[in-house]
Parts: sequence; structure tokens; C-alpha cells
Amino acid sequence: MKSFDNISLKAYNTFGIDVKARRMVVVEPGDSVEQLATLRSLDGGTEPELILGGGSNMVFTKDYDGTVVTLSRESACPVRQSTLVTAWGGMVMDDLVRWTLDNGLYGMENLSAIPGTVGASAVQNVGAYGAEAKDFVESVEAYDLKDGHLCTFSNADCCFAYRYSMFKDVPGRYLILRVTFRLKKEYAPNLSYKALEGLPHATAGELRQAITELRWGKLPRPEEHGSAGSFFKNPVVDEEVYARLRQQYADMPDAHPSAGGYKLSAGWLIDRAGWKGRTQGGAGVWPKNALVLYNAGACTGEEVRSLANAIQQDVKQKFGVVLEPEAIII
Ligand code: EPU
Repeated sequence: MKSFDNISLKAYNTFGIDVKARRMVVVEPGDSVEQLATLRSLDGGTEPELILGGGSNMVFTKDYDGTVVTLSRESACPVRQSTLVTAWGGMVMDDLVRWTLDNGLYGMENLSAIPGTVGASAVQNVGAYGAEAKDFVESVEAYDLKDGHLCTFSNADCCFAYRYSMFKDVPGRYLILRVTFRLKKEYAPNLSYKALEGLPHATAGELRQAITELRWGKLPRPEEHGSAGSFFKNPVVDEEVYARLRQQYADMPDAHPSAGGYKLSAGWLIDRAGWKGRTQGGAGVWPKNALVLYNAGACTGEEVRSLANAIQQDVKQKFGVVLEPEAIII
């Protein structure tokens, strides 16, 4: 375990927002339960703590006056037992996807190029191109910072749903140390996402490549512009709202039936409301994908928040639909 005082978080959030944390503790794969227990008593247990994964879903609006706890990004080699793979929570998710394919295990190729860590993928139930983390998570090992012990959660215990797990309801409680994924030995391509339909003969590596290119065609390259990927979740509306919008907007993409109603495309709503390519202060709406807010030049978290608020209000006014951020604003 390593500790740093008064540290810049610029390299720890993919928006590249330059704020500081009073302290950062980096947990390492070999740390004992006794060492993890010290996290519970920082400053006599009064210290506010924030658990940070890859920072790909966080917008900091000010300095963090407390301790940021994160897992070392060092990629401790995953452990394989037949089709089960256990990976360190701090491992970069895309490195794990590559590792699984290199080791003849399939399923997660559709999650290629998703930024963030293995631990965050379970918290957030990340998803793209017809797959979600929940399709592969077997179990999650965490340290309970509240009660001070190690615990293991099954897939069902995590209560996964669209961009949701029960970990989101108790932020700061569980430090996810390892996630075990169940994969397949036989490769059966998941081509349910429309743009992938034409790839029935692609190998797993070719599908991974195609997905990576598709993704980077729609999202800013991290080395050029910071962002948090999709900034908003796709909103789920009831049948009446969907029928009204369907009738009013012939160009609206079909909604996906979803638990509780119909899942609309937030990107289309924001685009149709005229926001694509607009900037406000240092924050902007990505010209190739209106669902993505990005750092158009040394932006502050407040500028991102203010742009997000303006979009939410406008979409509410124009379509009667409430957009909820996927990104967490701190
Ligand atoms: N659309 C527009 N204008 C835009 C953006 C999108 O009209 O500016 C339309 C598209 O043409 C399409 C529809 O909206 O008809 C949906 O777009 P897309 O297929 O790109 O998917 P999405 O619903 O916008 C979701 C995930 C992405 C994931 C893609 C692909 C959420 C919030 N986002 O986006 O996840 O990569 O599907 O599966 O569910 C992320 O979470 O960070 C992320 C990138």
C-alpha cells in the first residue's frame, strides 16, 4: 500500500480535470487484510473516502478534501481455472479482454476498448455492442470498509441491471479487489449490435479489432480529448411517452424494450435538440456523438456540470424526457 499527500488527480480521471486530493492511498495485490483495515481508521475514521477505479466515469468539480482510495494499475496476471478467470480489480479492463482472447477464452470481445478497470466494470455493469459485464461476472471479492472484512458476492448478489449494481447504492463501502469472470472455450460471435451483423466469419481477434475501430469512430481518442464516454444513460420511458415521440419524430431510432418500458437513445435526443458539436466554456458535445461530453480545452468540472444541466433542461423541455447522468459528479 502506498500513500501520497496533496496529489493532482489529473492523471486519475479520463476527463483530465485538474483538481487535487488531500491524500491518495494506492492498494496493491499483495496487501494483507490488516493493511486494508488501516483504511478504516484514517484520521480516526472521520476521513471522507472516495473509491476511484479508472476515473473514466467521474467528473471532479473541486479539490477532494479527503482520501481517494484506488487499486494499483499494475496488471497482476489473471488466474485461470478452466473457464473461470480471476483478475485484480485495478487491472485495465481492456488488458483483461486481450488476455482472455490470447488464452483461448471467449465472450468478452464485445467489451473491447471500454476504458476503466476490472473492479469498476462490475460496479457500473459496463456494456457495449450487445454485451454487459453481468453476462460474465461469476463473483466479486471485496473488502468491506464499513464492517472490516473480506466478502464475496455472487452474480445474483450484485443485483445487476443496466449500468447498475448494488455497489452503486453504497458508495465508499466495498473496495473491489478481484472479479471472477466465466468465459467460454468455444468462440460464438455475438453480432446482435446492428453494425456487427456483417461479420459472421470474423475471428474473435477480428471482431475485437472491428469493435475497437467502431468505438473509436464514435468517441474522442483519450490522448487527444478527455471525456467520460457516454455522459448520460439511455432513458427508459413508458409506452405512452414512447408512442407520443414515435408519432412526432419519424427519424427517432426504435427504442429497445427494457425492464420498465422503452429505452430511448439519449444520443439521438441530444443531437435532435441541436447540441452536437456545441461548446460552452471549456466543455463540449462531441461532434461525432452527442452522448459524449468532452474536454474541449482545460475545462473545469463546473463547466461540464453546467453544460450537462443545460442539455438536461433542454431535452426535458423539448421531449418531456429526463436524462440521468451515467457519469458521477463529485
Ligand atoms: N445517435 C444519434 N446522434 C448521436 C448519437 C447517437 O442520432 O449523436 C443515434 C444513433 O444513430 C443510433 C442511436 O442513437 O441510432 C444509438 O447510438 P449508439 O448505437 O452509438 O449507442 P448509444 O445508445 O448511444 C450505448 C452505450 C455505449 C455503447 C453503445 C454501443 C449507453 C449510455 N451508452 O450508446 O456505451 O458503446 O451503446 O453498444 O448505454 C459508455 O457507456 O460509455 C458507452 C460508450
